[in-house]
Amino acid sequence: MTTINALAADSQVIEHGDPLADGRAFRRCLGQYPTGVSIVTARHGEKTVGMAVNSFAAVSLDPALVLWSIRCESGSAAAFLEASHFAISVLSSRQVEVSQLFGSGHEDRFKLTSWTAGIGGAPLIDGAIAHLECRLAKVYEGGDHWILIGQVERYTRSTGEPLVFAQGQYAVSQNHPQLAAAARAAGTYEPTRENPLFTSLLTSTSQHMSRLFQEHRQALGVTPATSRVLNFLSQGAASIDSLEHDTLLGRGAIEDALSELIKQGFVEVNAGEYSLTAAGLEKRLALTQRAVEFTAEQLDGISDADLAAATRVMGKLLSN
Ligand SMILES: Cc1cc2nc3c(=O)[nH]c(=O)nc-3n(C[C@H](O)[C@H](O)[C@H](O)COP(=O)(O)O)c2cc1C
Repeated sequence: MTTINALAADSQVIEHGDPLADGRAFRRCLGQYPTGVSIVTARHGEKTVGMAVNSFAAVSLDPALVLWSIRCESGSAAAFLEASHFAISVLSSRQVEVSQLFGSGHEDRFKLTSWTAGIGGAPLIDGAIAHLECRLAKVYEGGDHWILIGQVERYTRSTGEPLVFAQGQYAVSQNHPQLAAAARAAGTYEPTRENPLFTSLLTSTSQHMSRLFQEHRQALGVTPATSRVLNFLSQGAASIDSLEHDTLLGRGAIEDALSELIKQGFVEVNAGEYSLTAAGLEKRLALTQRAVEFTAEQLDGISDADLAAATRVMGKLLSN
């Protein structure tokens, strides 16, 4: 009988042993368990403390309790143990730098980030996807760490994706592909406006971008059809048949575009082969320059990680 754990055979032991014999190896083992990343802060007297932690965890719903642990040797430990409150800011996937700053012990960490003071003066980091303002309820000894339990007095949940920390690296979370695959296999996957078919999304994105780029083309005196022909001819001379095949424009549209481009002096024809003139090459360069600027504007605010993932997906689809 096949078990639901049938793929377990693919997993191989990398290292094992006594956790005290090799601390780094033990940490790598703990790192197999992914967590989010939070900034925990407190204000005690004149001292404001804050650090990146991945030990934050939920404990109880009623009463509302959470925990996190701090290295006993941390310079901030005394202030955290004495302050009446601490605040947890759960970082978004766009806040890797904030985590690095608060994980580095940087002196100016609170000057280099924007925040607002919460209960007990504990800073709430702007842009976090959740804030939990807690009264310090209990402290337990936990080996070389103190375990702090907080009673949540107020919370805020905001939009955004969590920052993930797994296997010693920052990561992003996404729905498991098996969910969509299972829905497709079961025939229960129904495209909706919010959750469209991926290929439809690609088509509408391409059409939308093309519409937005239209004003830039117009400014350069180029139409969608002439722009496409300029693009193809920039790879070398071509016959009208191959242009029709490669550009997916109809014969009529190709003929119109070519006669327009010849009239403008951008294209010349020799023995049935169409090619760009020097002016045509220049026009195509100007178009490319505009496209580069337009693309940078459109991609503004999209993280490098998201862009890399999208590029991988497009590359895979193009190679199918
Ligand atoms: C992702 C991440 C998670 C961390 N988790 C913890 C933690 O749970 N507890 C802890 O004491 N330090 C943790 N650290 C290390 C502290 O953030 C770091 O030592 C910080 O500089 C401590 O501040 P301090 O200089 O005021 O002691 C973590 C660091 C990173 C980058």
